[in-house]
Amino acid sequence: MNLLVVGGGGREHAIIQSLKKNPGVSRIYALPGNGGIAADAECVAINATDIKGIVEFAAKNAIDFAVVAPDDPLVLGCADALQEIGIPVFGPNKNAAIIEGSKVFSKRLMQKYNIPTAAYAVFTDLKEALDYIEDAPIPTVIKADGLALGKGVIIAQTRQEAKNALRSMLEDKVFGDSGSRVIVEEFLTGPEVSVLSFTDGETVIPMISSMDHKRALDGDEGLNTGGMGTIAPNPYYTEAVAKECMETIFLPTIRAMKAEGRPFKGCLYFGLMLTPKGPKVIEYNCRFGDPETQVVLPLLESDLLTVMQAVSAGKLAETEVKWKDAAACCVVMASKGYPTAYEKGFEITLPQLEQDEHVFIAGARLAEDKLVTSGGRVLGAVTVRPALKEAIDASYGLVDRIHFDNAFYRRDIGQRALAAKEDK
Ligand code: AMP
Ligand code: GLY
Repeated sequence: MNLLVVGGGGREHAIIQSLKKNPGVSRIYALPGNGGIAADAECVAINATDIKGIVEFAAKNAIDFAVVAPDDPLVLGCADALQEIGIPVFGPNKNAAIIEGSKVFSKRLMQKYNIPTAAYAVFTDLKEALDYIEDAPIPTVIKADGLALGKGVIIAQTRQEAKNALRSMLEDKVFGDSGSRVIVEEFLTGPEVSVLSFTDGETVIPMISSMDHKRALDGDEGLNTGGMGTIAPNPYYTEAVAKECMETIFLPTIRAMKAEGRPFKGCLYFGLMLTPKGPKVIEYNCRFGDPETQVVLPLLESDLLTVMQAVSAGKLAETEVKWKDAAACCVVMASKGYPTAYEKGFEITLPQLEQDEHVFIAGARLAEDKLVTSGGRVLGAVTVRPALKEAIDASYGLVDRIHFDNAFYRRDIGQRALAAKEDK
């Protein structure tokens, strides 16, 4: 079988390594992939948002199955376009990807179908939004409606900060059209859990839960990033919580999307907060999370391609999805200065990997056969061990064997989860 994977980050590297385990796979093309993915797939220089280019490539290269991993091509209709030329796809259609593409859509969906989430109001008019803020409880959360490269969420600690955020989105248009509608949302508290799920629009099978570490610095200080590390499973996500989430969030969401004529097929990511009033949805993503995928897929015991094909064919109910009884930790090694300005072009040296060790490359390119840094998040150092503490220690041991100049990483990935485990 010839597979095509759209995307080029650590998430795509993890997906490709899992797909490769299927003995029926002969070729994997990554569009565009990256310098590290090139060790596992044939990288083709076609951008993930170049839908026409992707479809033309797929038509010419006898692709049997495609996986569209990032949010922007999904929101642009990449899955639809590939299906139109007869290629089965893992990834939602455009009309379902809107669950991530428009936060206003997703908030209205949750309100209509009684899915627990933060209270909210929607504004397009600056003056109305500013008036509303006068009486809103502080802190408050301001969100741009559309995709904003993960930067469209502002937790305002003061009224002034909230007003500045509203002005920058509605007046200065810092997020362009993505911010021409904004949501002002109730500030929630509690531990956060990421739950990725497989769904074919009828059946939903949650994957192993995980915990992201979004802030740049130790102790959850510093700027928000795409994610500096992850652990799985998430100790806050107990069996009782999982059951409640299935009944109040996962199934109702799948049914709601179907009822709206937008059945969701692919990976639906539930960003949850376990509030004192129960689990609530912080956000939906229409795709695998990154770096969540880097800890979740190494724990998958079942064959990923088989599960993805079942999702695409609408046969998930007949498919078993098994997980390893183990823990995983991913430490992201980034370029110093990320998420703002950083230098790149430094050579990366990688060690010989042992069993249950993975290095998923996110931001690197090949320069005369040498791997050099080319992005903010450079790679994820991942290990799988019987228990969380061992996985954390092993992942930091792996980090010690990887070298590039200007490397920067958090030293406390998994510590909050460990403390939570010890509390129980
Ligand atoms: P997002 O970019 O949508 O992943 O949001 C970034 C982060 O903002 C989330 O991971 C939460 O930590 C935080 N956040 C978003 N919405 C809320 C909310 N209503 N209350 C508290 N924190 C929030
Ligand atoms: N790690 C969060 C995300 O992928 O959106």
